[in-house]
Amino acid sequence: MLKYSVMRMVDIIEKKRDGGKLSPEEIRFAVMGYAKGDIPDYQMSALCMAIVFRGMDKEETATLTDAMMHSGETIDLSSIHGIKVDKHSTGGVGDKTSLVLGPLVSANGAKLAKMSGRGLGHTGGTLDKMESVPGMRIALSEEEFVKQVNDIGIAIIGQTQDIDPADKKMYALRDVTGTVESIPLIASSIMSKKLAAGSDAILLDVKFGSGAFMKTFEMAKTLATTMVEIGKSLGRDTRAIITDMDQPLGLAVGNSLEVKEAIATLHGQGPKDLVELVEEAGSIMLEQAHIVKTHEEGIAKIKETIDNGEAFKKLVAFFKAQGGDISYLENPEKFEKAKYETKIIAENDGYVSQINSMEIGVSAMRLGAGRATMSDVIDMSAGIILAKKVGDEVKKGDLLATCYTNKTGVDSVYKDVHDAFKLQKEKVKVSPIVHAYIK
Ligand code: URA
Repeated sequence: MLKYSVMRMVDIIEKKRDGGKLSPEEIRFAVMGYAKGDIPDYQMSALCMAIVFRGMDKEETATLTDAMMHSGETIDLSSIHGIKVDKHSTGGVGDKTSLVLGPLVSANGAKLAKMSGRGLGHTGGTLDKMESVPGMRIALSEEEFVKQVNDIGIAIIGQTQDIDPADKKMYALRDVTGTVESIPLIASSIMSKKLAAGSDAILLDVKFGSGAFMKTFEMAKTLATTMVEIGKSLGRDTRAIITDMDQPLGLAVGNSLEVKEAIATLHGQGPKDLVELVEEAGSIMLEQAHIVKTHEEGIAKIKETIDNGEAFKKLVAFFKAQGGDISYLENPEKFEKAKYETKIIAENDGYVSQINSMEIGVSAMRLGAGRATMSDVIDMSAGIILAKKVGDEVKKGDLLATCYTNKTGVDSVYKDVHDAFKLQKEKVKVSPIVHAYIK
């Protein structure tokens, strides 16, 4: 075995460049050295590019994940009673799933101790959506986090600075060196953070289509399978669903608009695709938490907690525990409305075959709902409400969507929102939202 003292980053880069398999020692040397600042950006970016071209096998990818996960603090959730479940989505437009699914599974007895992220570019982040409710705190100490999950079964907080520092540096570097698109790099980046966050079971929602990292079903399946294998090899019950992003999820895109839709969904008035997704994903999470034995039993329990109001009560308890003003949940009309409301009208007849998620996500961002750079300030009231979804018939003059903003001079956005709707003459067959389940 080579000693660190004789190991050189340049040899590791060349080995991968030439298609070799890196040893666990070499991978740990590169990751730890980079996290500590001993290895410069230019060498790590060369290694990432070699991985983009040459790939990594299962063993290398699992070692990379383990090394990244141990580059910082790992959260100890062992003092939370019961099975801790977590879910992760690879990033969507209109994806308010966690705000619906979290209360649903915890109302059924599962424990959800979740660390979430902020939105960037065309995708929104759960933390930003939560902060559209005044008072909501997303920074809890580890003790507060554990206590809240023990007391009410759910907490969602921001990822602490000390978790996975190797990923923070590597992801920022990959972003500017053309090295994001690599299955082993994406899989290790996502899984190292999830594993460091300490849950026993993880459900991954891997999206494909316009607006998703993975453009095709096949690519999404490869990423999902890789992540499930990593999670299992490191001792966690890891499963994945593959869902499509050929349109935004639900009808609302934008922070307080999405919170309102999450509330409506917990009151039994959610849009069809979102309801289908939370039933499917919720049932799997209840199986992972050993609360139900079959998928049908899980779906029945999810429906029951919507119908009897328990899931909404859980949402209220969760926001209250984190300081949120729950009068906004009880009376969503309280959310501030944007100054300008613009209706987007269909110019042709047809059936909606696609609503380009990337275009809708970028348009919502330009209306004020998202950030182009991490320092941008979000307008919680801005966004888009879709009036039509894939499969719907459209007549010229019908409402396609409504845009909300406090900005002027954004007329080109309205055209983009209109053009995001792809119409065809023939009827469109709508497929189920979950295309595959991998466990
Ligand atoms: N999300 C992550 O956290 N990491 C990636 O590499 C890609 C998406």
